[in-house]
Amino acid sequence: MTTWHLAAAESELPPGTAKECVAGDRIVALFNVDGVIHALDGICPHQGGPLGKGKLQGCIATCPWHGWQFDVSTGQHQTSKSLIHGKFLVKVDEGQVFVALESESKP
Ligand code: FES
Repeated sequence: MTTWHLAAAESELPPGTAKECVAGDRIVALFNVDGVIHALDGICPHQGGPLGKGKLQGCIATCPWHGWQFDVSTGQHQTSKSLIHGKFLVKVDEGQVFVALESESKP
């Protein structure tokens, strides 16, 4: 069963931006790509950097600590095909962004 957790208000995440937030007991990185919101595990798999505080260009997020890059729509690391970062299902309801904390794909 999917359990949805409030992550942020949609208004806090304009198109082209990223946001770090806490949902339930997880740190989640939210990204708005042309009006579609994606959610990744907020902890970078390299050394634990805050992915939600990184830069977003198109659908590519760059970790602010050492520059690892991920496609936020899939979790795919941009240079290591074997590394897919965990992502979460997202729904928007009445201006609120919710995430399903069960990881959609395992890192
Ligand atoms: S912690 Fe994210 S690239 Fe190093």
